[in-house]
Amino acid sequence: MSRLEALPPYLFSALDEAKHRRMATGARVLDLGIGDPDLPTPEPVVEAMHRALDDPRHHRYPPQKGAADLRRVIASYMAERYGVDVDPQTQVLVLIGSKEGLGHLPLAHVHEGDNVLVPDLGYPVYAQATLLAGGIPRAFALRPEDGFLPRVAELAELVDERTRLVFLNYPHNPTGAVADDGFWKRCVAAVRGTGAVLVNDAAYLEVTLDGSRPVSMLAAADLETDRVIELHSLSKMFNMTGWRIGFAVGNAAVVGALGRVKESMDSGAFGAVQETAAFALGPRRDELLAQVMGAYARRRQVMTSALTAGGYEVFPSGATFYVWVRVPGSEAAAAFCARALEEIGVVLTPGTGFGPGGEGWFRISLTAGDEDVAAAAALLEGWS
Ligand SMILES: Cc1ncc(COP(=O)(O)O)c(C=O)c1O
Repeated sequence: MSRLEALPPYLFSALDEAKHRRMATGARVLDLGIGDPDLPTPEPVVEAMHRALDDPRHHRYPPQKGAADLRRVIASYMAERYGVDVDPQTQVLVLIGSKEGLGHLPLAHVHEGDNVLVPDLGYPVYAQATLLAGGIPRAFALRPEDGFLPRVAELAELVDERTRLVFLNYPHNPTGAVADDGFWKRCVAAVRGTGAVLVNDAAYLEVTLDGSRPVSMLAAADLETDRVIELHSLSKMFNMTGWRIGFAVGNAAVVGALGRVKESMDSGAFGAVQETAAFALGPRRDELLAQVMGAYARRRQVMTSALTAGGYEVFPSGATFYVWVRVPGSEAAAAFCARALEEIGVVLTPGTGFGPGGEGWFRISLTAGDEDVAAAAALLEGWS
């Protein structure tokens, strides 16, 4: 079997087809399926891009590891916001979105037949990128009774001499679970000295809607000696999913290895986008973030109040723009979501789209307009 053939089928295709069939009939569809911000990138960021476009330096290939200026801004951001000191020269790498980094990371570490630990449930890219690199994804459980954090002792037992990477993702898609410093310290200690690289996919680190302060995994590690890397993204921070910009920070050898893979794969993110990213992460960052997150916080409130009133069990979370909800009764998640589309025209994502551990749950994305979120909330409240 080729590596491509080893990739699992796209689990959402059946639901996608059903959605399009319903739309073709002219019936109303409220799509709370995909996690792609509906609101535009904040105007000051777009204006910065307009300015950057006029600079002919950006019309040429960008610097391979990312613009020096952006890497300096990223280092200041990590220090100010997370108390993490990184060397912009060796410990920061600009990515074409965090997915690009996640996709390339196994190529830097995995030999044919090596193990990679991936969460069940989780973003499918960790396992898919592992398979494409010839590795074997080994799932570890995330359980509701543990707040969807892995049991660190279990994780430690799974790491063996052929384990190259351990993927974690906090704040977590799809559950919204959050990790604190104590959890990270235990994880870093469990993987320390094993030869495996501990990865945190931090795409949602700034999507905190309850005013709590996000915690970076790197604050719990010694970047000189621990083989750790964290992947960040501007996509969800500033409604910039289409711009394709993110960055990796961590241990210099691990970051450097990813950079070497990228040298053979791409020539970096568009320079004007990098200059704009430096603007967004710069002095106006907090004001821009507050503007973006305010909309999701309001929507989460509307949705969770309606669901609670409707008798649903909502996983308590103030992070990510997802709401994670238990399927009422004993219906399978896929059947429940298919029925939601058919009976009330609301697109939901079955938890099983993120692995078998998602059975019995569904995900609501708050990246639709305020009116659609409120309409879907009202429909769900009076249904099921
Ligand atoms: C958990 C997680 N990680 C990474 C990404 C990729 O984000 P991007 O490549 O836009 O930075 C996504 C996108 O939805 C995601 O949900």
